[in-house]
Amino acid sequence: MSSKIETLSGYFHDYQKSIVNPHRFWSRIAENSHWREKWTKVVEHDFKKLSIKWFIDGKLNITENIFEKNLFIFGDKPAIIWEANDPNEKGVTLSYRELFIEVCKFSNVLLKHGIKKGDRVILYMPMIPEAAIAMLACARIGAVHSIVFAGFSAQSLAERINDCDAKMVLTSDGNYRGAKVIPVKDVVDEALKQCSSVNKVIVVKRTKTEVTMKAHQDLWWHEEISEVSDVNIAETMDSEDLLFILYTSGSTGKPKGVVHTTGGYMVYTKYTFENVFQYSQGDVYWCTADIGWITGHSYIIYGPLLAGATTLMFEGIPTYPDAGRFWEIVDKYKVNQFYTAPTAIRALQTHGIEPVLKHSLASLKVLGSVGEPINEEAWHWYHDHIGKGRCPIVDTWWQTETGGIMLSPIAGVTPTKPAYATLPMPGILPVILDNDGVELIGNSVEGNLCIQFPWPSMIRTIYGDHKRCFETYFSQFPGYYFSGDGVKRDEDGYYRILGRVDDVINVSGHRLGTAEVENAINEHPLVVESAVVGFAHDIKGQGIYAYVICDMTNRSEASLNLEIREMVSNMIGPLAKPDIIQFVPDLPKTRSGKIMRRILRKIAENDTSNLGDTSTLLNPEVVDAIIKSVNKK
Ligand code: WT7
Repeated sequence: MSSKIETLSGYFHDYQKSIVNPHRFWSRIAENSHWREKWTKVVEHDFKKLSIKWFIDGKLNITENIFEKNLFIFGDKPAIIWEANDPNEKGVTLSYRELFIEVCKFSNVLLKHGIKKGDRVILYMPMIPEAAIAMLACARIGAVHSIVFAGFSAQSLAERINDCDAKMVLTSDGNYRGAKVIPVKDVVDEALKQCSSVNKVIVVKRTKTEVTMKAHQDLWWHEEISEVSDVNIAETMDSEDLLFILYTSGSTGKPKGVVHTTGGYMVYTKYTFENVFQYSQGDVYWCTADIGWITGHSYIIYGPLLAGATTLMFEGIPTYPDAGRFWEIVDKYKVNQFYTAPTAIRALQTHGIEPVLKHSLASLKVLGSVGEPINEEAWHWYHDHIGKGRCPIVDTWWQTETGGIMLSPIAGVTPTKPAYATLPMPGILPVILDNDGVELIGNSVEGNLCIQFPWPSMIRTIYGDHKRCFETYFSQFPGYYFSGDGVKRDEDGYYRILGRVDDVINVSGHRLGTAEVENAINEHPLVVESAVVGFAHDIKGQGIYAYVICDMTNRSEASLNLEIREMVSNMIGPLAKPDIIQFVPDLPKTRSGKIMRRILRKIAENDTSNLGDTSTLLNPEVVDAIIKSVNKK
């Protein structure tokens, strides 16, 4: 059965079928994949006890669905087009056959070093083809990959390695990022001082940065790969065997290892990729995300490659060597589908349309947006100047936990509305609940975005902490998955995401927990206490505003400011550095000692006219003191 949606009535037709009989609907979609053994039951779930299983008893290997299944048809087709950071460096194109051979070889390297099915392997790598090869090699032998964005600090890397007891780390000597070279191997060395589970580190030579190679531990990728066979038989995986762990921030505690499993993730990422972007064979598709985030997993690697697409991987940044780089690449490779984040659009918008006008962009057919709410101004700029008014924008709402796109227009099929993620994908049953858990029926309502029925690529657990998974997503509104986002359903039944309703902030599309940033700030020896909130930021979407109580004796604000920012950078990574640090005498607290963030958010937004009821505060006088210190600045 073709699962391609081609018309609006076709969408409504498929949507209804998916809701009336999800078993039959997903069964038909899954039949398009290759299973070594077919499933005995499509889905079994219990959101109250938290057990979710898809394609039960099914046996498969996801890489067999990328390679063996397609090699006869797609063997010579480009699978990955890689563009280097430096526009003068020659790119690399790997056909499906060439990529397959590299994946087989690296699978054999992993096996040779004792990595077995179920073992965890950390990737701390730049956007180079080896990163894709490594992910797929893990999947091929049944090892669980966990990619840590290479901008995270040694401390964050160590926490993640220890949380999942990883046996191996894959990295590079250095990373190119615009004009900078970042010595990532040093970061790995630093992290490993705190980790005992890792016994091998494989290093890709990328920047020729000098590194120390520890005997019996550190190995060069190019040496290892030259010594193994290029034949590898894929491991048999159960549908519910782990495919990967990806750490993400929540409103409390340390980052959580979101677990995705094999069968459902495969079916859903392929289905949504083909439909949302309306990929046609021969198209060149480009998603600008980093593979360290879920977007890179689902829509640079797995979804596109399962669909036999040509996927472009870009090592660099949008503004190097200049703000026309994205558009230069679009023209160079005749990109047809382009998928990026609002923060990148807004950043490029500030450079004006000059850099855009130097390029034709005539190949573009579909534009995508992901990661944070897109403001109407950015939507129109993207639509008018990049899409020249002829490319539909798919504003795709989803999360690390959802594995794939949940709410989105189908390109060219669903009429779009600026800043709206529009309608649910087939199989997705969104509901809006008020704070008491009462479902808001009908249109023109807003509240908490929950999902009522399971979907194939949903989170199964948090690695090593099933209870936390239940508490985070399934306890506030029993019987539902709670996204943490606020949403509005307008008069046409279209969905618009309003942003997080919990203590998560979204900085340039990167998710951070306020508690996580506070913990890092509190590591500074002179800091007594801190409270972090988000505030509207023109480019980043949200910026980080930190209120800090600090012992300032004999110290200048400027030096403390620098030191605290440095501390956060070392503890988490540069992306978590506060934009504004406000030194305050005290923090507004309730009688039970809880920080009243609502008030701090309003002050950060410069909206102090209506602070609401402050009489229940333990220390109402502090609010005025904070406002005064803001005005003083
Ligand atoms: C959070 C998830 C989805 C992959 C990248 C981010 C926000 C994501 C949209 C959108 C408005 C969006 C939500 C969500 N978000 N896409 N199209 N419109 N908000 O994944 O790091 O797991 O973050 O990003 O707040 O909960 P993530």
